[in-house]
Amino acid sequence: MNSAHAANFANTTGAIVGRLSALRLQFPILAQPVNGQPLVYLDNAATTQIPLTVLDAMREFETRARANIHRGVHTLSQRATDAFEDARETVKRHVGAAGAHELVFTSGTTEALNMLAQGISTGLDGHAAVLGAGDEIIVSGLEHHANLVPWQQAARRSGATLRILLPDAQGRLHEDALARLLSPRTRVFALTACSNASGERPPYEAMLALAQKADALTVLDAAQAVGHSAMQLDTLACDFMAFSAHKMYGPMGIGALVGRRAAMERLTPLRFGGDMVQSVSFQRAVFAQLPARLEGGTPNVSGAVGMAAAASFIEAVGFKAIEAHLTDLRQHAVRGLRQIEGVTVLSAQTEMSAIVSFVVQGAHPHDIGTLLDARGIAVRTGHHCAQPLLEHLGTGPTTRASLAVYNTHEEVAQLLSGVAHAIEVLR
Ligand SMILES: Cc1ncc(COP(=O)(O)O)c(C=O)c1O
Repeated sequence: MNSAHAANFANTTGAIVGRLSALRLQFPILAQPVNGQPLVYLDNAATTQIPLTVLDAMREFETRARANIHRGVHTLSQRATDAFEDARETVKRHVGAAGAHELVFTSGTTEALNMLAQGISTGLDGHAAVLGAGDEIIVSGLEHHANLVPWQQAARRSGATLRILLPDAQGRLHEDALARLLSPRTRVFALTACSNASGERPPYEAMLALAQKADALTVLDAAQAVGHSAMQLDTLACDFMAFSAHKMYGPMGIGALVGRRAAMERLTPLRFGGDMVQSVSFQRAVFAQLPARLEGGTPNVSGAVGMAAAASFIEAVGFKAIEAHLTDLRQHAVRGLRQIEGVTVLSAQTEMSAIVSFVVQGAHPHDIGTLLDARGIAVRTGHHCAQPLLEHLGTGPTTRASLAVYNTHEEVAQLLSGVAHAIEVLR
């Protein structure tokens, strides 16, 4: 790790608890009071905080290499191009992408999924779109709106039918239900690696394999997994995977669509313009090869540099250690919440999730969130951009605490006493 702030938090095998003080120094934002109380930041599923090593990498780029990429012969332009392409390689490696994969930088998961859904439902220069009338798209019922609404639009645009793989009453998805939905007309199966609203982690490895066997293009929304789970794209039956840097300790406004090159080549570009063309006349354009083909316009280069630094930060801390720490914290939170009368935790049994979503009988999540904020505890309340799921489960809006590498058991204890206090006040 090449940073002025690289420090003794790096150790890929030791438990996180022994490294928490060094780790928390990487996140100065955590050391401030909020409403007169020490900040307890438990809104990590929305956005994680950013470590100094990532800020250092971005500052280094902006102060030493900032220039536009790919178009200049001058030294700074070459430095910036190298920084951007190095970042692409680092992020690809981080998610286990192999030689047969390509990665395109986007502004985040939402743009990646829109690029995909629009890219396969729109034709190009007289060539038909991948999706057509009579085709079927299957989307799981656990999805964030970002992995549902673009598919609704793709279905309307192409005349395809949208089918929903509904979860059971506990919010779990089942392979046999997917097997029943798959048909010779299924062209796309889109699934989340972890629901941001319930915390449920479906058996995505097996489900993607099932869908790919049925010749569907498979799409994984990994936004809630990349921050703590080692994704091994080259072992997954996954054609496309989308994720955002700001949910993995990186900057906002940058993310990626990564996938099998042969599948990515089938996408009609979302953005036409500079840098994505090979040659242009007044009437026509010949488009560039991947990845430039899907990266029209000036990209967020310092964002890409920051995203790569965030990947290096996670690897320096260690996936196994992070996963173990988050599992301990989640179990602590789930156990404690279930002991409070009237509290129901969604997907309490799920594993490898950093999200604790709950409802309280007789208390509105908004009021709970406001009372927690008065104690300096940041959680998120509402439908979490997954309204159909929470309506299907019958819970309505929830309170969601979500965990990250820098959270402590003391903070979980504060959450638990904060929730108990809020319930006392509200009943
Ligand atoms: C599962 C999931 N998918 C997609 C998104 C959208 O991510 P972004 O807002 O970074 O585009 C989110 C954000 O919360 C998410 O949790």
